[in-house]
Amino acid sequence: LTVAHDTLAGARAAGVLRASRAEIRIGLLGVGHVGSAVARLVFARPHALGRRVRIASALVRDPLEPSRTRALPGVSLTSDPRALFAAAPTVVVEVLGGLEPARTLVLEALARGLPVVTANKALLAYHGEELLEAAASAGVPLRYEASVIAGVPFLGTFARRPLAADVTCLTGIVNGTTNYILTEIGESHPDYASALAQAQHHGFAEPDSSKDVDGLDAVEKLVVLIRQFARLRAAPDAIETTGIRQITAADLVHAGELGGSIKPVVYADWSGAALAAFAGPAFVPRPHPLAALRGVSNGICLRDGAGSVLSLAGPGAGPDITAVTVLDDVLEAVVAKPVRFSAACIASVRPPSSRWLVRITSSGALPFGADVADLLASHGIWIERTSTRDTRHGGDAQWLLTYPSVRDRIGAATAALSAATGCSAFCVRALEEQP
Ligand SMILES: NC(=O)c1ccc[n+]([C@@H]2O[C@H](COP(=O)([O-])OP(=O)(O)OC[C@H]3O[C@@H](n4cnc5c(N)ncnc54)[C@H](OP(=O)(O)O)[C@@H]3O)[C@@H](O)[C@H]2O)c1
Repeated sequence: LTVAHDTLAGARAAGVLRASRAEIRIGLLGVGHVGSAVARLVFARPHALGRRVRIASALVRDPLEPSRTRALPGVSLTSDPRALFAAAPTVVVEVLGGLEPARTLVLEALARGLPVVTANKALLAYHGEELLEAAASAGVPLRYEASVIAGVPFLGTFARRPLAADVTCLTGIVNGTTNYILTEIGESHPDYASALAQAQHHGFAEPDSSKDVDGLDAVEKLVVLIRQFARLRAAPDAIETTGIRQITAADLVHAGELGGSIKPVVYADWSGAALAAFAGPAFVPRPHPLAALRGVSNGICLRDGAGSVLSLAGPGAGPDITAVTVLDDVLEAVVAKPVRFSAACIASVRPPSSRWLVRITSSGALPFGADVADLLASHGIWIERTSTRDTRHGGDAQWLLTYPSVRDRIGAATAALSAATGCSAFCVRALEEQP
């Protein structure tokens, strides 16, 4: 792609002036799941934003691809970004996904003085700082409400209310696919594979769902949240990230016995010197607000320095909900002043200390509970509660809930247990009862 970065102050000013009173002309980058839903909504409710809205032009890979039926009457489809910008959009909506050409085209739009709305968390996780700085220096808004929990719009509210957003810790469920799969494993499916197939059947999981089930989608959203609330920059691969592939139906049953369930969690706490963060499945005790979120629901708990917690929950993403949030962002973007850019500091990231849910399995009989407790204690791990033993699957298994420990210590203790007894141990983090 060749793009021209011919920023013209006059064009910028003219663009803002035009946007303030005339129809809203969307330059739509991408007409896939979300882009199609945006177009459908615009066609169905062209005056929903109080102003006439139309799609000026839309960018796809191949407009003539016969296998794609794109119901976009009157919209010029193109694979050439120059043609999209030549259609004089007043706002650009980026729903291409991925890093390139999304980054280049968003920079191009900003340099032309056009407000940008994106739903692309990967783009923000990897290039958010550069893009927000470019938006501020162009004097135009860059909105990204739909990039994290599109069904629960809250990022824009907190961006405009810095005192309310004086948060020091956040815990959330930000991936509906994995919340659905874990809910299904716990209730009606014997294992991960059949729950995943069910999610795919209902359209809650993509045919290639690895970004969801391996936690990559969640950690990108966590990075966006950390940037917004902590004003810290963290690379996704600097944050401990685990997937849900190894969670079994027995894990869910015995998590229930221990007073909770296993949920796909993101967590970040910056009240100390370092940023403590992780993304992965975690035991969530029943009193915790996230424990009640079933199926594709998403939610987030924000704790401030005084310990007050604000919890928000609602539907996760999905093309239609995302399109609504994108179009609300469009209206805000064409009328609002840009948010002042404040550079985020680079975070020193560490995995947090937490409680742990440990599954111990043996093909024969498990060692005596007291021996397990003594061995773990000799490595600094103390057991808070244990489940009943489970011999239904041919071997012997038990689940332990520990007191807080850092990952290295629980790893060393369970490795020592395996070496001494031949048992296997599998650990997931466990949240406290209150966020
Ligand atoms: N799906 C959801 O429910 C959801 C929810 C919230 C946020 N999001 C985010 O929204 C974004 C879009 O997701 P999606 O599910 O709509 O993706 P998608 O179905 O894969 O659609 C991507 C669109 O972008 C176009 N495109 C991709 N690369 C291109 C390139 N190099 N040049 C021109 N066009 C290109 C594709 O063109 P073709 O049509 O020619 O292939 C397609 O129209 C992602 O960032 C995603 O994370 C999605």
